[in-house]
Amino acid sequence: MDKIIIKGGKSLKGEVKISGAKNAALPILISSLLTDGTCKYNNVPALNDIKSVNFLLENLGAKVVKTGAGSLSINSENFNNHKTSYELVRKMRASILVLGPLLARLKKAEVSFPGGCAIGARPVDLHLKGLAALGAKIEIKNGYIKAFCSQLKGADIYFDFPTVTGAENLMMAASLAKGTTVLKNCAKEPEVIELADVLNKMGAKIKGAGTPTIEIIGVKELKPAEVAIMPDRIEVGTFIIAAALTNGDILIKGCAPKHLEAVINKLKEAGADIIVKNNNIRAIGNKEIKSADIKTLPYPGFPTDMQAQFMVLMCFGNGVSMIEESVFENRLIHVSELNRMGADIKVSGNKAMVKGVKFLSGAPVMASDLRASASLVLAGLAAKGVTEINRIYHLDRGYENIEAKFSALGADIKRISV
Ligand code: UD1
Repeated sequence: MDKIIIKGGKSLKGEVKISGAKNAALPILISSLLTDGTCKYNNVPALNDIKSVNFLLENLGAKVVKTGAGSLSINSENFNNHKTSYELVRKMRASILVLGPLLARLKKAEVSFPGGCAIGARPVDLHLKGLAALGAKIEIKNGYIKAFCSQLKGADIYFDFPTVTGAENLMMAASLAKGTTVLKNCAKEPEVIELADVLNKMGAKIKGAGTPTIEIIGVKELKPAEVAIMPDRIEVGTFIIAAALTNGDILIKGCAPKHLEAVINKLKEAGADIIVKNNNIRAIGNKEIKSADIKTLPYPGFPTDMQAQFMVLMCFGNGVSMIEESVFENRLIHVSELNRMGADIKVSGNKAMVKGVKFLSGAPVMASDLRASASLVLAGLAAKGVTEINRIYHLDRGYENIEAKFSALGADIKRISV
């Protein structure tokens, strides 16, 4: 298993190019199951989750061909297997996104029930309720979701909570359903809009993505499309924090700044200088980091996927910061690792009180989930001494070439295989 070793304390300076977004790429690659033709994808990030989704698609009968650096073609003409195993879903919960396309195309699905994960129970009841409203018969048996239908039919569906992959699953299923589907209280994340745009390019009739109400008029068939995956807003946010933390100056190229309003505003409040110009963001850190409060919320609120990274910045704040995690019930696992590095964080329920300290000290730490891993890298970059991050397979699921990118900015960071 690999480890990352960081000698902290370097001020990060230079340019970094942002990769394609994992959370946009996963549903978009899966949407290739909705057509018989060959879809082409560019700017696909080289991540373990992308390998997992390609393996999953091949397992279902699709043909995935790497056509260049960051480019893939997927043909689902022979898509005929309706089963997805526990092994695949356990590795990557987003595998649940095949449910909609399986029901829409093959009229049956058998997908392992995704269990809870480190950050919470993460149920899929809203996906299942929605598919049932479209006419699918669903039962849970031996750890598997077994579903079938004769033909999905449009319906009105209300999400009790705005779920990102739930909206995506339902948009895919409803695109090939008979009649009109109206989804209410939808997630408004940019990745939901991006998938709707891709489906529309394929011939779907979807209106309202990015608002609470999405209307989908079912069509008989979809055609293939060529798509470039949008930039990863969470990777952008992670680099802005790296600049703020290390008194650095980073030009972050190829971003979509409009997806980052909550993050940019909060980081300005925390004392960073952030200059947005077209698709680039220049982030400049200042000596004094100001303590600021956040509460994570569905988009356009402060993203839960940036909470752990923001907490590291607050460890160096000039006062006290209150951080409330309101999307997932157990997403403060990184606190104990940060405290081992000398942070002063107290947790009560889903809230953390972070008192700023003068410095963190490098230590061996353990990554517990994807974004927690990123927070430990940031903590290591800002800490005095050497930080050794174990279990970095989480990091490789969602950050492309992270150590190469930080190295190019002047960090002393290396990966070693144990
Ligand atoms: C997606 C993102 C993940 C991000 C999260 C919230 C992908 C592949 N992953 O995950 O990085 O952290 O959005 O922005 O895009 N819920 C239910 N029942 C359901 C579905 C969700 O109760 O059927 C709850 C969840 O437990 C959670 C909340 O809704 O508390 C939001 O979760 P959701 O938006 O579904 O997260 P994911 O789509 O899994």
